Amino acid sequence: MGTGTVRSKVKFDENWGFYKGELQIPYAVKGGMTGGITDTGALREGEWLDIAFNDKGMGEQQLEWTALSLPHDWCVEQQYVQDGQLGARDGSHGYLPGGTGFYRKTFELPADAAGSKWTVHFDGVSGTATVWVNGHLIGSHHGGYIGSSYDLSDVLRYGGEGSNVILVKVDATECEGWWYEGCGIYRHVWLENTDRLHVAEYGTYITTPEVAKEKAVVSIRTRLRNDYTEGMPVSLRTVIYDADGMQICADSADAFADWHAETELEQSFEVEQPMLWGIESPYLYRAESVVIYNGNELDRYETVFGIRSIRFDAEEGFFLNGEPLLIKGTCNHQDFAGVGVALPDSLIEYKLRLLQEMGSNAYRSAHHPPTPELLDMCDRMGILVMDENRKLDSSPEGLSHLERMLYRDRNHPCVIIWNLENEEVLEGTVTGARILKTLADRTRRIDPTRPTSAAMNHGWNENGYNDVVEITGYNYGHRDTHNIDIRDHGLYPERLMIGSECASYTATRGIYEDDPVKGYCSEYGTNIPSWGCTPQQAWNDLVNHRFLTGVFMWTGFDYRGEPTPYLWPCINSHFGLMDTCGFPKDSYYYMQAVWKDEPMVHVLPHWNWPGSEGKPVEVRVFSNTETVELSLNGRSLGEQQVDRNGYLSWEVIYEPGELQAIGKRGGVAIAENAVVTAGQPHQIALFPDRLAGRADGSDTIPVRVAVLDKYGYVVPTADNEIRFEVTGAGALLGLGNGNPSSHEPDKSPLRRAFNGWCLALIQASHEAGSIQVRAVSTGLASAEVVLQVTAE
Ligand code: GAL
Repeated sequence: MGTGTVRSKVKFDENWGFYKGELQIPYAVKGGMTGGITDTGALREGEWLDIAFNDKGMGEQQLEWTALSLPHDWCVEQQYVQDGQLGARDGSHGYLPGGTGFYRKTFELPADAAGSKWTVHFDGVSGTATVWVNGHLIGSHHGGYIGSSYDLSDVLRYGGEGSNVILVKVDATECEGWWYEGCGIYRHVWLENTDRLHVAEYGTYITTPEVAKEKAVVSIRTRLRNDYTEGMPVSLRTVIYDADGMQICADSADAFADWHAETELEQSFEVEQPMLWGIESPYLYRAESVVIYNGNELDRYETVFGIRSIRFDAEEGFFLNGEPLLIKGTCNHQDFAGVGVALPDSLIEYKLRLLQEMGSNAYRSAHHPPTPELLDMCDRMGILVMDENRKLDSSPEGLSHLERMLYRDRNHPCVIIWNLENEEVLEGTVTGARILKTLADRTRRIDPTRPTSAAMNHGWNENGYNDVVEITGYNYGHRDTHNIDIRDHGLYPERLMIGSECASYTATRGIYEDDPVKGYCSEYGTNIPSWGCTPQQAWNDLVNHRFLTGVFMWTGFDYRGEPTPYLWPCINSHFGLMDTCGFPKDSYYYMQAVWKDEPMVHVLPHWNWPGSEGKPVEVRVFSNTETVELSLNGRSLGEQQVDRNGYLSWEVIYEPGELQAIGKRGGVAIAENAVVTAGQPHQIALFPDRLAGRADGSDTIPVRVAVLDKYGYVVPTADNEIRFEVTGAGALLGLGNGNPSSHEPDKSPLRRAFNGWCLALIQASHEAGSIQVRAVSTGLASAEVVLQVTAE
């Protein structure tokens, strides 16, 4: 026994074929197989399904399979249509249609691959995903936000048996949420090979029951899966390594692994002088689990973990490693400009970095579990996560989704709260409370080390709904006050509270007057929804009432769908502190002023107001310095004392030129920001996020693109159309400009600037070399930048 196979897990993202449209594949099963296809493309029920399963089959001759790599979202490749069907409310899905698509991939396995275990893992498919392998119906998964895994070992072909064909039907005709969800296999796919005796899927559970400066106790529970036909005496050797790869402790345990069953072992370790995981220093350890049978190593499995303690207090809020910490969070949906929901890992990291640069220390993955890589990144970057279950659902399917999230994510030090639902209609009802209790109980059973919560829309005090979770999540506030109300703290002093969703401040980048026709909201905040409030109000709620624990601002980034307060032509939301491309709005700088100590000052609006000469303009300044002096064309307009949690305001009589704000501490200038009246658009400028990348076929470098006047000032109203030419070792992945009413395609070489800016995403190929990015526009001086990508 023991094939000697040691685990391998490879990305299965490349060389897929994609077919957009319907193929009638009946579910009739004959010996595990579905129907076949006739010359005309129609399927013969009950016959061997050749359409996509046999390389010689008619499928390949008759259907056009577009070659592509995952992640992929076909929704973003389509045209906007006013009567988009998807979404719970008009426009909520961003006016992009869904539909059905098929993915197909062939692969070979050597003869000696037989006998071991082969598992395919889908991290996330938007739509209902049905999987066939070599004609066998393997499974169907409903729910785009949690993965599914299938053991393919029995139906694969090995060596001379032929090549393997995997076919995935994605039915994205229905929606799950009221935001843009995308369509297709939009997260990674993996092919994993293990011995028949191996660490089970998500088979380790690492907790730190004691955390002190001198010593931490680390407990590791490991589930072994034995798929042989008899029980086996095995030994599990677990080794803990520090971040430098030094072994710091090890333990071996013996067990009898029963056959076709799982066996759990528990080991305990003492780590002297532990390095704690924190937001400033996100120190990570690594546990390696080695499964040995009869002297042979059968499996080697790795788990990254952190040592840290968390505590929530009804008076003082959150404590990380014994220290109080205000949670400065944002809620986020997962899409981005140019790619829909199919984000290469490097773009996910980019988004997280932008949030961190704003001063945010926490991320709420609204309203579903995030892609697994996001949690790896938050572990590494020191970002706290409110990890969210998709819905209030204790059906077998609902529980299985919750459980998978818990098993998948419970070793991540970044995860501090399990959020079990968001604003479900049954909140505050007796039935809702029963369902929530089942979810909460199941969660505590699987991971009692983190509190449960629910992000509630006024369900706080009814029918004991909130009492079944540890933390009551406040989405916005009481209907009369619009902010999180402190009354509840007085009424229920034992209650743990958190601002699970705050602000919903609607603003369009670079816009200072509401425009219902174009679908734009002023950055002055004159068009915020009835349930929302300003970022200032949300933040002040927290700083004045620490028992509120933290705020999660709705949202870090604009997202497709929910164009509140408008409908068509508006296709994306306005709630972001940044737009869909990650360009900051003014409110981003408010958050930076209150969330970061590094001195900064930001002045708004822009200073291009032809025709307004001699008229008053309201100028606002965000800063974290002591005082700010504002001057126009060198003339001081006065110095004001900074109100750290508010903003400064001047009424300025407009004249073109330079409006400058200087932030001072102790009378010394330490930060400066200016807006300058720009002239006509004259040239393009490219600002790549970085000049170097990895030649891995995935790494994506965002290039910020600005339209400048002849003196080099960004023209804040420019909307020139720019053409992108990308040659060499990479390609243009997508474009965006943050305009919530733009119907330009994201997959195209052309894009208009919006208020001076647009964004180009450049993706590396597998070839090392240079990528030339050129941007041209009629009447403007063009720009070029060269990026270098090197082999990993
Ligand atoms: C909340 C909801 C979010 C989003 C937001 C808009 O009620 O949880 O998903 O719709 O409102 O303000």
